[in-house]
Amino acid sequence: MPKLIISSADRVFVLTGAGISAESGIPTFRDAGGLWRNYRIEEVASPLAWRGDPHFVWDFYSMRRKAASAAKPNPGHFALASLEQALHDRFFLCTQNVDNLHELAGSQCVAHMHGELFKSRCDSCSRPPFPDTSIHESQGEIPLCPCGGKIRPHICWFGEVPFHLEQIFAELEVCTVFIAIGTSGSVEPAASFATHVSGRAKTFYVGPEAPANHSSFDDCFLGKAGELLPILFPH
Ligand code: OAD
Repeated sequence: MPKLIISSADRVFVLTGAGISAESGIPTFRDAGGLWRNYRIEEVASPLAWRGDPHFVWDFYSMRRKAASAAKPNPGHFALASLEQALHDRFFLCTQNVDNLHELAGSQCVAHMHGELFKSRCDSCSRPPFPDTSIHESQGEIPLCPCGGKIRPHICWFGEVPFHLEQIFAELEVCTVFIAIGTSGSVEPAASFATHVSGRAKTFYVGPEAPANHSSFDDCFLGKAGELLPILFPH
């Protein structure tokens, strides 16, 4: 197995995807049984879907809230929380996941570039996103903001700009080790992060199969995150 050595001078950028939560029972998007095998993205995760059928959109995110609230972090999440504790500000965790399993494992600082499942926001005014675990299923009313706008999930839908990009690109500029975990490398801009840093940072991938962008990585560690991360980052 190749080695993943982090020196005391390294700054580590970790990008996680749905694969890190797979062993916690949260389905990925593109694997067999994945969410995008059963739902059409444009019907549940786009501004057009929200305008056309907000009840259907809330059905989808209510189902995902229920699944995520039953899930617990796995050893992969815990290994990353320990790595953050060891490296402090030389560690940056960016996730495409909208669940809260990194936080439940003890990660202190997580940049959720695709939003957060347990937050909502108004679709009209600038009221900031707020914590929300409510379930809004088919026949219920769409909750309204005091301004009259509709309350929507705080999720980056297709066609929208991901969150925290300024901070993320600043961290990519200074990292010396880049590690992607459990992401198929098929959604931009995250799919290009490895290429963005290659040449100046060592790039690694962890997951059961090589991702679509595998040629951007120096080394791939093939296996499940929950099994490999505690070995790669023992505490
Ligand atoms: P995908 O479903 O595209 O890819 C999941 C990856 O996880 C695959 O490469 C699997 O091989 C890997 N995987 C499966 N089990 C694993 C395990 N136990 N340990 C490690 N890896 C494992 O999910 P993402 O790449 O995260 O965006 O998808 C990116 C974005 O596409 C999502 O954030 C979502 C989706 O559309 C939005 O909804 C905006």
